[in-house]
Amino acid sequence: MAREQWGTKLGFMLAAMGSAVGLGNIWRFSFVAGNNGGGAFLLLYLGCVFLIGIPLLLTEVSIGRKAKSDVVGSYQKLAPKTPWFFTGFFGIFSAFLILSFYAVVAGWSLYYFFNYVTGNFFEAPAEAGFGAVFGGFISQGWQPLFWTALFMAMVIFIVVSGVKKGIETANKIFMPLLALLLIVLAVFSLSLDGAMEGLAFLFQPDWSAFSQPSIYVQALGQAFFSLSLGMGALLTYGSYLSDDKKLPGAAVGIGLMDTFFAVISGLVIFPAVFAFSIDPSSGPPLVFITLPTIFEQMPLGGIVGLIFFFALSLAALSSAISILEVPTAYFMRLFSWSRKKSSIIVGSIMFFFGIFVSLGFGIWSDVTPIGEKNILDSMDYIASNILLPLGGLSMALFVGWYFKKATALKAVDLKDDLMGSTWYGIVKFIVPVVILIIFVSSL
Ligand code: PFF
Repeated sequence: MAREQWGTKLGFMLAAMGSAVGLGNIWRFSFVAGNNGGGAFLLLYLGCVFLIGIPLLLTEVSIGRKAKSDVVGSYQKLAPKTPWFFTGFFGIFSAFLILSFYAVVAGWSLYYFFNYVTGNFFEAPAEAGFGAVFGGFISQGWQPLFWTALFMAMVIFIVVSGVKKGIETANKIFMPLLALLLIVLAVFSLSLDGAMEGLAFLFQPDWSAFSQPSIYVQALGQAFFSLSLGMGALLTYGSYLSDDKKLPGAAVGIGLMDTFFAVISGLVIFPAVFAFSIDPSSGPPLVFITLPTIFEQMPLGGIVGLIFFFALSLAALSSAISILEVPTAYFMRLFSWSRKKSSIIVGSIMFFFGIFVSLGFGIWSDVTPIGEKNILDSMDYIASNILLPLGGLSMALFVGWYFKKATALKAVDLKDDLMGSTWYGIVKFIVPVVILIIFVSSL
């Protein structure tokens, strides 16, 4: 059977943006920024995106396009009889880890959407507010699991439909809708009393924060997570791209779009956090408490909330399909499984792990695998802050050192001019050095 391909370059761009833009930009960005002091974190995060993220994004997509195989097969094809394919195993492992908790949070988003459909969340019940509503919901056993299962079923359904029909069409509709909504919400949030304090939190770095090594690891991890980098999602999407489609513009476009979504989410969340006296370091629940509080105050907020959680769930869906696609493509080739069989088996295993994540907010809330982190936070920490940057480091070393310069430049459609040499220098020297320094200093 011929390998599947994107319909158009735009189709690829939208799918890659769909992968990048997701819960990471809204849910994860807000709580990590909130936990790490706001402005200082934002500055470091932007530094990581532009210095490391975008050059690596180009690198990762090019590996897939050159090899036209999955995340393990690509290395085996381009570097036969070498251990480079271990990078691919890292990616497969990260995919299992990430989707297991991603599906749980996406399930929360579906639950919120449902409660806006029924009108339940138009107003916070009694004095308790949305903090108590959210806390009550996630600590129950079965209910969050039901929504996680529903979400995984949707992810599997789209991945089964195949690259072009399922993934490409879904993204063409969801992305613009979400952008529009976030802009409207940012305008409203900025008009609230007290919005200025939120702006100051997000844009005025507290210089003393730079002395904590953890903020660098967090900024790097957030850049990787948000750009879908280092795991092989973009490599796999790149493998469905024909050689005549030029990469550098696409990589910059994807990176800029993703950053736009993160900054605009910050403009929605932080003014409201301060206007409603919510603690910016509330952790993963932050947006699930802040957003409904905003909607409650807004004219037509119930409708806005409904559309918002619909769009957020779809953004999560278009990211989740890119995560599921990584092991699905691998097992399809390895065992000659059909797309359907592969995605159902992989997706079910991820759901199984998701059960532990979800119960980590209820009966297993005192299970803390790392430090004081619960199950979700621990898995997120290992995947985003360690595995993804290591995967990215390995990709940089592969293209920067295993390939000759001319081969590397050709793979990414750059010439041996100032731009090409800058990209090459970044990938060969700067990316490895920066990632290693950040790692070592955090130990
Ligand atoms: N980038 C996605 C988000 O921001 O929600 C999450 C993600 C997708 C992470 C794909 C990693 C990945 F490979």
